[in-house]
Amino acid sequence: MTDMTGYSDGDVDTNDSRQETLESMAASRYSRRQALFRGAGATTMAFLGTGMIAACDSDSSGGEGVTVSAGSTVATSAGRVVTLTGSPENGYGGYTTAWSQASGTAVELTGTGSTVTFIAPAVAAATDLTFTFTATSVLGAPRTATTTVRVSPAVLGFTAVAHSLADVAVVPEGYSVTIMTRLGDPLTAATSAYANDGTDADFANRIGDHHDALHFFGLSATGTPAPASSTRGLMVQNHENITQTYLHPSGPTTTGGVRPLAEALKEIECHGVSITEYADAGNRKWGYVQASSFNRRITPNTPMSFHGPAAGSAYLVTAYSQDGKAGRGTINNCANGVTGWNTNLTCEENYAGYFKREAADDAKRTAAELASLQRNGITSRSGNYGWSTASTTDTRFTRWNASISGATSKDDFRYEPNQFGWVVEIDPFNPASTPRKRTALGRFGHEGAFVRIATGQKLGVYMGDDSRGEYLYKFVSTQTWAAADATATDRLAVGDKYLDAGTLYVARFDADGTGKWLPLVFGSVPTRPASGSYPAYTFADQADISVNTRFAADAVGATPMDRPEWTVGNPVTGEIYLTLTNSNNSFRPVTGTNAANPRSYNDPKGAAKTAQTGNPNGHIVRLREDGDTTSATTFKWDIYLFGADSTDADPVNVNVSGLTTANDFSSPDGAYFSRSTNPAGQINPVMWIETDDGAMTDRTNCMLLAAIPGRVGDGGAVTITNTNGGTGTQATFVGAKATAANLRRFLVGPAQCEITGIDQTPDGRTLFVGIQHPGEDGTYAAPGSHWPYTQDGSTPAATVRPRSALIAITKNDGGVIAL
Ligand code: FEO
Ligand code: CA
Ligand code: CA
Repeated sequence: MTDMTGYSDGDVDTNDSRQETLESMAASRYSRRQALFRGAGATTMAFLGTGMIAACDSDSSGGEGVTVSAGSTVATSAGRVVTLTGSPENGYGGYTTAWSQASGTAVELTGTGSTVTFIAPAVAAATDLTFTFTATSVLGAPRTATTTVRVSPAVLGFTAVAHSLADVAVVPEGYSVTIMTRLGDPLTAATSAYANDGTDADFANRIGDHHDALHFFGLSATGTPAPASSTRGLMVQNHENITQTYLHPSGPTTTGGVRPLAEALKEIECHGVSITEYADAGNRKWGYVQASSFNRRITPNTPMSFHGPAAGSAYLVTAYSQDGKAGRGTINNCANGVTGWNTNLTCEENYAGYFKREAADDAKRTAAELASLQRNGITSRSGNYGWSTASTTDTRFTRWNASISGATSKDDFRYEPNQFGWVVEIDPFNPASTPRKRTALGRFGHEGAFVRIATGQKLGVYMGDDSRGEYLYKFVSTQTWAAADATATDRLAVGDKYLDAGTLYVARFDADGTGKWLPLVFGSVPTRPASGSYPAYTFADQADISVNTRFAADAVGATPMDRPEWTVGNPVTGEIYLTLTNSNNSFRPVTGTNAANPRSYNDPKGAAKTAQTGNPNGHIVRLREDGDTTSATTFKWDIYLFGADSTDADPVNVNVSGLTTANDFSSPDGAYFSRSTNPAGQINPVMWIETDDGAMTDRTNCMLLAAIPGRVGDGGAVTITNTNGGTGTQATFVGAKATAANLRRFLVGPAQCEITGIDQTPDGRTLFVGIQHPGEDGTYAAPGSHWPYTQDGSTPAATVRPRSALIAITKNDGGVIAL
């Protein structure tokens, strides 16, 4: 017994009675001194201490067998770290010590002996947990004391971050930032370190650019899915686009109208998805595993396959895809979705602009094809970045010219744009797997795909189409969820089961606060009437509806929204939130509001008070399905939150949510709820809101906010008076106002970035966030940011190029983020 206490004098071991007496005296003393509390959730100390022994004689309440009692109660709230400390006297014989839980919601005690910690659990109301400290002498009976920890429901527990224009990611006091995978970081052992001077190549083996949506898939020691793991995982992240100037030694070049092949290949391969192994070296010291066999880049050149109603149809036939079932690559991957069977959904958003279509092509197209091309934005005569010029024979480049050049669609890439605009399912645990494009979910500017799974229900997949005046969609699977599928080993086959057969709907938001899901089913969708430059469009089959989803949604009368971005579901209430990032005056004039898009106003910018009109700050709408079922065809909605520049905005009609400088924001984009596996995702879960803003960037860089939202209907009916080159009124339904308690700014990003992508470890103690395109307005010669090289406080040389990067945020005391 020399190890536990350091006491090694065997003589005392014979003196049982003395040991008992002293221990009893100490225990008795403890009854008065037990509690030393340092504020909420700090430290509970149980004293059986040296200093008390001398004074114990007069205290003793009865010698041997005396019992101790608990002192006062320590108060904390869900998600915070509580430390229990006992200090037994060890001068008279060996002691072993231990803490155990006596009552209340079970928690995991970490540590051994006299000091242990735990994370306060989620509770719906103040709840007492009791713990017992036991000191056991080698000679005598155990002595115990108990202490009570009163846990209150979760609250936001950080100091709001102020507006910032600094070139650094700012987080609250008590939190730390670790830079994780950055643009160009090598993903194999053989790949060189990133020089970041424009000379690097081989992006099929490096982290891509423009970090967007991300998800941490827990990984077991044997390389299988381990959804509960908070220490090892596969990070799946989208790489939406590029900041071209920083990728080449002196920016992009073109000679005689031709892009160098190597430059074009680099730019192409910077797009797509990365899968990277992340590991915690202990106590949330995160790093990535460069040589992991799981690391994978999925680029616009990675083979894929098509599934669902459009697979094998003529719409998808190209020189590469002779049967209309083969696909090649994914591009402009924006937000994501996570299935219940350990696969990832990546969403193809603004694919249209990458394609060139020559002016002469118009005359070669049918009226229906032309209408489809226009409705989906495939109208560029050059194509972003001019990739199609890089080769006349290599189809990795010629495919980006969608002009008709061959005898049939098997001879050219006239239908190549139809190969994009889909939701793509990826199995991150199988690097050899071929991703599957799920055409039943429709084709449009797919922002994200939030999958709601509820016991005994069909799957609901909620999806925004990110362009001004576009729609919110929902896919409902034919199959009802079977829990056993969560652990299937052929994960993409489970995807076939739920994502290839079902009904696609589009949302209509009605003025009375209700809404309808309108089915996009062949036979029931009428001809889209002619309008504007579009001729009437009649659907041929369900494949046609899958490919020309926007037309079908037009035809059934869906509600045009202010750029639908991310969708996310509250894990407790099941309510669905949709960010509507912003709109301009041509789409949202005073005369063009509707109940779900009710504001039209001016947010002046900068010293010059430059006008920004329409709905430049955006809002967040939410809905509750009738019956709380995924397959409901009706719902209730309200507007949870309105973006506003609180300094400039009319406090009644623009700053409708009552934002202050501590929580004002503009252009909500990413949205996420904390995972239901930790206290931030339970009872009243924490919602995270990311911004992609240009309207309020005179005051602050883009940001991440944490919120604790209520429920649909917690505000009420209001009528907004719009004054924006005219006056009008718009009745709508709004959520409860924002307060310091339910909405706080958690992070402000570096210069010229957008905050994109977010997930946390299952335990909620690490938050992963994507920082996209810092310095996007600069050039290689004069970068607009030097982040992440500024994050440690240093001042890099003026020509150091910025890099998109993923960051891990941890709380210094190890608690759950935000609480
Ligand atoms: Fe890629 Fe809609 O943001
Ligand atoms: Ca302003
Ligand atoms: Ca986005």
